[in-house]
Amino acid sequence: MTTRGRASAREKTVGALAQMTLVCDRCRARFEPAGSPGRCQCGGLLHVEFPLAEVVERTTFDVRLSSWQPLDRSGVWRYRELLPPLPAAAIVTRPEGNTALYQHPQLTDWTGCEELFLKHEGENPTGSFKDRGMTVAISHARTIGAQAVACASTGNTAASVAAYAALAGLPSVVFLPAGKIAAGKLGQAIAYGARIVQVEGDFDAAMRLVEEAGRELGLYLLNSVNPFRLEGQKTIVFELLHQLGWSVPDWIVLPGGNLGNAAAFGAALAQLRDVGWLERLPRLAVIQAAGAAPFYAAYRSGFREFRPVAAETIATAIRIGNPVSYERARRAIELTDGLVDTVSDEEILEAKARVDRTGIGCEPASAASVAGVRKLVARGVIRPGDRVVAILTGHVLKDPDAVLAYHLGDPPRPLANRPVTIAPTLDALAGVLARAL
Ligand code: F0G
Repeated sequence: MTTRGRASAREKTVGALAQMTLVCDRCRARFEPAGSPGRCQCGGLLHVEFPLAEVVERTTFDVRLSSWQPLDRSGVWRYRELLPPLPAAAIVTRPEGNTALYQHPQLTDWTGCEELFLKHEGENPTGSFKDRGMTVAISHARTIGAQAVACASTGNTAASVAAYAALAGLPSVVFLPAGKIAAGKLGQAIAYGARIVQVEGDFDAAMRLVEEAGRELGLYLLNSVNPFRLEGQKTIVFELLHQLGWSVPDWIVLPGGNLGNAAAFGAALAQLRDVGWLERLPRLAVIQAAGAAPFYAAYRSGFREFRPVAAETIATAIRIGNPVSYERARRAIELTDGLVDTVSDEEILEAKARVDRTGIGCEPASAASVAGVRKLVARGVIRPGDRVVAILTGHVLKDPDAVLAYHLGDPPRPLANRPVTIAPTLDALAGVLARAL
């Protein structure tokens, strides 16, 4: 590269950063986005403000679907006019997004929802929706010259951080609640080369520690405290609306843990409404596991009080008792006239077995959204003819132990599919096939 080329790349970086401001949700203090974006001194979370680039027509996004340019291929950067203007040279993309919207008659029957779509975020490069936020946040980390990145995680963020940091050539440290991470996720973080710190305690303890480490040790924080993560996660909503021809569904149903997605969905909908692209807002329904439901308890109190809980659920991804994005998620529920509900671990496992059996498959936390749709239809909250998009947040391979526990456990579960072992003879096989087919 020539000296002039380098100078212009630097100028582009400075120019891009100058267009963005971090603003505290709570006290409105303003900061330059020149370091790891943690919390404001007042304890509030920050969001990114930036001028929206001119998007003349939504057909711009259709045109990009037939392009081979890496940014057009990404289901995140395809919508770049609606995202912080990071310099193209800093962007790390796999590409992410482009996740399918499925319909399946068995799930329509089981939930009682005639127009149920499943948006499968498990089809992202590392198998969860986290990659959408990670491409934006890691690209910001590169823009500002971060030296090392970190996160606390129930597993999927860790897998995504490890992969994107490796792609960006940055060292990463992930803080995991010891013994509470699904095998697929731990395996990914190890394989992609993150330094793994297992914290004795739950996710909430790991989260406290990583926030301190971010402040004191200069690590760039990649949790959803980081507003660039949420900017990327907004594209789940952009992409699903694009796939539906920009016609607004009645409901978007999603699992809630740390509540980053709920917050991002609210921000995305507010943004699209302000641009004038939505004739109305869909209602958001956040579904928590019954044993990890502080958001639900707050919702039931009319959001008058919020109390962290000691969380326990089979869906380890959402085993979170003190969600970081509580206030933002609350605003998303209020904005969309949404609701919060819970499902039991048994309901989650049955919904997962149903989704798995269709051939679509998902991890346990994802199935909370489908279990939630069924419950809300049964209660008459979702009407049978409503158009509903349920988000599947993670891939079936993330948690093989949950699959085996369900199918091999005693007493046998309703949809258990047990392998059989036979002698290597045709007779033995014929006996098995006679029973199976
Ligand atoms: N589903 C899956 C598969 C997840 O991994 C998570 C969160 C959620 C749902 C909840 O999303 O936090 O935005 O409400 N996993 C985080 C992690 C916490 O560390 O991987 P949320």
